[in-house]
Amino acid sequence: MLETGITITNNDKHNGRKPQRPASLLRGLSGKLLFLTLIFVMIAEVLIFVPSIANFRNVWLQNHLETAEAASIVYLDTPDFMLSEGARGNLLRATQSVAVAVRQGGTSRLMASNDMPGSVVAHIDLDNVSALGSISSAMTMLFADNHDHYRVFGKMRSSDAIMELVQEMQPIKRAMWVYARNVMVLSIIISVITAGLVFLALYWLIVRPIIRISKNMDSFSKSPENAALIYQPTGRRDELGIAEERLAAFQGDLQNTLRQKQHLADLGLAVSKINHDLRNILASAQLFSDRLTSLPDPTVQRFAPKLIRTIDRAVEYTKSVITYGKAMEAPPSRRKLLLRSVVSDVAELLGLESMSNVHWENAVADGFEADADPEQLFRVLMNLCRNSLQAMADCEIPGRELRLRVTAEHHDGQIKIRVSDTGPGIPDHIRETLFQAFQGSTKPGGTGLGMTIAAELVRAHGGTISIENTSPEGTTLLLVLPDLTIMIGEETQ
Ligand SMILES: Nc1ncnc2c1ncn2[C@@H]1O[C@H](COP(=O)(O)OP(=O)(O)OP(=O)(O)O)[C@@H](O)[C@H]1O
Ligand SMILES: [Mg+2]
Repeated sequence: MLETGITITNNDKHNGRKPQRPASLLRGLSGKLLFLTLIFVMIAEVLIFVPSIANFRNVWLQNHLETAEAASIVYLDTPDFMLSEGARGNLLRATQSVAVAVRQGGTSRLMASNDMPGSVVAHIDLDNVSALGSISSAMTMLFADNHDHYRVFGKMRSSDAIMELVQEMQPIKRAMWVYARNVMVLSIIISVITAGLVFLALYWLIVRPIIRISKNMDSFSKSPENAALIYQPTGRRDELGIAEERLAAFQGDLQNTLRQKQHLADLGLAVSKINHDLRNILASAQLFSDRLTSLPDPTVQRFAPKLIRTIDRAVEYTKSVITYGKAMEAPPSRRKLLLRSVVSDVAELLGLESMSNVHWENAVADGFEADADPEQLFRVLMNLCRNSLQAMADCEIPGRELRLRVTAEHHDGQIKIRVSDTGPGIPDHIRETLFQAFQGSTKPGGTGLGMTIAAELVRAHGGTISIENTSPEGTTLLLVLPDLTIMIGEETQ
């Protein structure tokens, strides 16, 4: 685990969110799915249920007409034939009717009948029933008065005569209600089984992985620096699989960012501590060097002002560079400066003039002016030149001449400053991230901040910094600054 000074407290307690209770079964996704599946299956069953009742009624009526037809076959052949009293009673009972008649050739013959106390409220022609018509009349019959009667008729199968029955509502109503109840019970059983299966399938495929993901997110958010908590994708290939992969990648990236932030925070702390003590030491150095100016020795007189300037500059750094960070960097305070002298200062600080193995060349023209913050431009150039020197020091190519050169030109409203060396070139793998904090260093003691600081200072001037070319033969870094000296000149004309 990383020991962090930055404590990321995404804890519920700390960020003011109410602690999340685990969802109850009914309020959770599983419960909702179960409920919805039940409702949908029930709706489907009702849609089947209504037409099936109408169908049941038609079959019931058809069966009774056929029973009546079987009993009346003899009767049709013999016009004078009369059923006995007992047979008429049996026929009426078998067909559950109060009257049975046969219509043939325009005449209707009553085979058997009883008293009919109620009225005939419906006439059903079984040969001409539409689907909607039979649904609506079946529904009406389901709620009709038990003592009402209806007439049902249909063509006989054995002849072209029409069989007619008058029946009381009660028997068919009872049969329909029993049927409805059975269908309803069956529907409920089917819905519960289907809903259960759908629920299990959805729970297994969706809800369970979501619970796993959300539990991981919860524990990760409490301890985002713990690498063991990065989500382990299950390898499934559907949308949830993609979400798992993205979550794992996101958590990985987040940990990297946190590590960098931690690095920055640690560095900031270290810089502040060093800075504090360094300032005291520099204050004493300032005091001693002031005294040097009073010595008459001409060599001392020559070097003392330079020493004082250098120490003053260092004191300025300790004041301004409290910690690394854009927000802490003061905005540039621009003024017209002579670039050659800034480059000379850099060479002086790095001791370039006295180096025997490096050929140093300040190729900036004498009166070359730039409009920039001298301290910041000095820092930029010092970082670049120091990198070049360090790179060349590591370069052990026999016979190679080590050269470091700074040039400057006015071009198209811009100032182009080039720092070129004959070092080994910038390694491939750091080129992309060269200007990002802590990403680019290849040196054991390097922080990887030099280029970042340089790029930031140049950007604050409205300029850019880039690698113009780099190869095993050497490197040229290009600084482009807006040429404000021209604009100022133009404005004053
Ligand atoms: N002129 C150059 N030639 C070859 N490599 C270079 C050159 N300039 C920079 N680099 C490479 O880029 C890396 C990053 O440079 P940068 O100045 O950002 O960090 P650093 O020099 O390692 O550390 P520091 O923060 O102390 O400056 C260096 O470590 C070096 O490998
Ligand atoms: Mg450097």
